[in-house]
Amino acid sequence: MQETEERIVDKKKVRIGLVGAGAIMRLSHAPTIRSSDCAELVAVFDADIQRAEVLTSDFGGKPFNNLESMLGLKDLDAVIVATPNKFHEEGVVAAAAHGKHVLCEKPLSVDAAGGRRMVEACNKAGVVLQVGFNQRFWGQVEIAKALIDAGFIGKVHQMRSIYSEKSTAYPASTGYRYDLGLSGGATIIDLTIHRIDLARHLVGDFSGVMAELVHSQLPQVVDDNVFMLTRFESGARGCLAGNRYSPNIGDGTDLYGTEGTIHLASETSSPFASAPLAVYTERAAKDLPDVLREAHYPEAWWESFKGGWITVKPPRRSPYGKQLAAFCDSISMGKPAQITGIDGLRAQEFVQGAYHSMRTGSWVDLPLSDSIPFDIPEYR
Ligand SMILES: NC(=O)c1ccc[n+]([C@@H]2O[C@H](COP(=O)([O-])OP(=O)(O)OC[C@H]3O[C@@H](n4cnc5c(N)ncnc54)[C@H](O)[C@@H]3O)[C@@H](O)[C@H]2O)c1
Repeated sequence: MQETEERIVDKKKVRIGLVGAGAIMRLSHAPTIRSSDCAELVAVFDADIQRAEVLTSDFGGKPFNNLESMLGLKDLDAVIVATPNKFHEEGVVAAAAHGKHVLCEKPLSVDAAGGRRMVEACNKAGVVLQVGFNQRFWGQVEIAKALIDAGFIGKVHQMRSIYSEKSTAYPASTGYRYDLGLSGGATIIDLTIHRIDLARHLVGDFSGVMAELVHSQLPQVVDDNVFMLTRFESGARGCLAGNRYSPNIGDGTDLYGTEGTIHLASETSSPFASAPLAVYTERAAKDLPDVLREAHYPEAWWESFKGGWITVKPPRRSPYGKQLAAFCDSISMGKPAQITGIDGLRAQEFVQGAYHSMRTGSWVDLPLSDSIPFDIPEYR
């Protein structure tokens, strides 16, 4: 009998340091690293050393209250940056200067100029810069993207997306979101930016934005009620909205094509979004892609299906797990990030364009011209 020798490929784990030890590190990034087979946590930096110590005592690694000291570690390959938005730039630029790869939480920066400097610093250093638009990794979004790219719903002329989350719903460690100097925005840059990115991911590049951003309810005078119209380079039109006062997590993205419709929901459901993905088609069963054929529960004779709604419930997997796996993959294979600094920058330009639209009361062209300033509206 011939003996077969099994070769175990020992892939080197990416050694990660966290920049920031707040809520999203505890809820998502640290547990995701712990359960991943591609990464390990070696250090945590926070301006508040106690937060870094508590996180390392729960998840491992060495605590730091000095960023340069952590970045000086030889056994550190990469960092995840999740500090108040204003400090993303200093974290990313310092990491790049030390040759460390970066996964930077959304938003990339507070303004487009900062975003450009971050992209340049990472390009110059030759390190991976991935942006934390984790909603792209939802199973339903991946399927929708594949269907749209394959032309399954024809030409998309119209889309809309809403994402609302009450200000008290999320267990933040600090109140930085409601200090516009630190956050750059309370709703548009924190919640809606996910949908700005999803809109561009699914429909294509933007050509303009027109915004209506107001303060309606919260005690903090910030953008808690956000509406934006958008034009896409394809000629499509869209509407993006969000708020921070309504008690439910409101969520839904609709894409209307010439040959079908896609409704997407996130991880919450409601009577209006009872499945993560619903696709309307006029194609018969034999003309459907496998992902839809396999998802559909026929009422009787499946082969007689002549079109209608197909409900898809993809297995619920953590988008953070896929996000981290993509980051490790880019580093170990020397590939560009799956969600790049330019993706982050385009979303940043959209926000800055929306702010300018509020000042001028008019449409602002995208990609953003360098001459458009970053000017947060004065809410009342
Ligand atoms: N992708 C997502 O869906 C998602 C979800 C939540 C948060 N985030 C992003 O993560 C980032 C952090 O959010 P959070 O909810 O964890 O905030 P948080 O308020 O819970 O924590 C912020 C942490 O940063 C620390 N900090 C403050 N200034 C610092 C500095 N200069 N250097 C290092 N640490 C500093 C604070 O001590 C605190 O521990 C934000 O950019 C946010 O947009 C993304």
